[in-house]
Amino acid sequence: MPVMKNMYGKVCIEGWLTSNEGDWLMKQARECKGAVLEVGSYKGLSSAHIATGIRDGFPDSAHLYCVDHFKHVGTDTYGSFVHNMNELNFMRYITPMRMFSDLARKEWDEDIELEMLFIDGDHSYDGCKADWDAWVPLVKEGGLVILHDAQGGVSKKEIMISYDSKPFPGVARVADEFIKYKVSEWGVVDRICWMVK
Ligand SMILES: C[S@@+](CC[C@H](N)C(=O)[O-])C[C@H]1O[C@@H](n2cnc3c(N)ncnc32)[C@H](O)[C@@H]1O
Repeated sequence: MPVMKNMYGKVCIEGWLTSNEGDWLMKQARECKGAVLEVGSYKGLSSAHIATGIRDGFPDSAHLYCVDHFKHVGTDTYGSFVHNMNELNFMRYITPMRMFSDLARKEWDEDIELEMLFIDGDHSYDGCKADWDAWVPLVKEGGLVILHDAQGGVSKKEIMISYDSKPFPGVARVADEFIKYKVSEWGVVDRICWMVK
């Protein structure tokens, strides 16, 4: 079940982010001076945290691209997403890309490299790996790659697994593969697994 999070006592956004994860995303986004891309925005809970960081950090140069077809299990979430972002005055920091991730990648301007990538879209192994293969090459060296729902992966001992949501072994496997292959630094925040490219 999604959780509800109240942003600034103003807007209640439904989503799947813990407070720890939201605070952490906000903090990372505050350091970004360029493009941040999120795959899987739903109704904008993670987007709102990232946008808060952009607003408080480098609002003139940083920008968040929100890739989602906005049809989560048949429900159209685009109206809620736009409503929530407008209520929080965040649309100025955000470009929604209302389409499947593979199409968004095809439409992406190759000259724009990513400082931060948050993957929280298709949670199957094939889907998550496809997002990884498509978007990670665009992340600059030293940039941040973040996977949500990676619990149960390499970092079994460290990841808190006491949340209600079921683990997603496909996402965990993608995290495992990358950490084994090449990573300079990585860590976990609740169900987030982050890596420095
Ligand atoms: C778990 S939700 C994202 C939750 C959101 N990050 C939050 O903080 O509440 C996953 C989202 O990914 C989207 N999605 C799933 N597969 C996708 C794909 N292949 N391309 C684009 N969006 C996708 C769904 O529409 C859904 O909104």
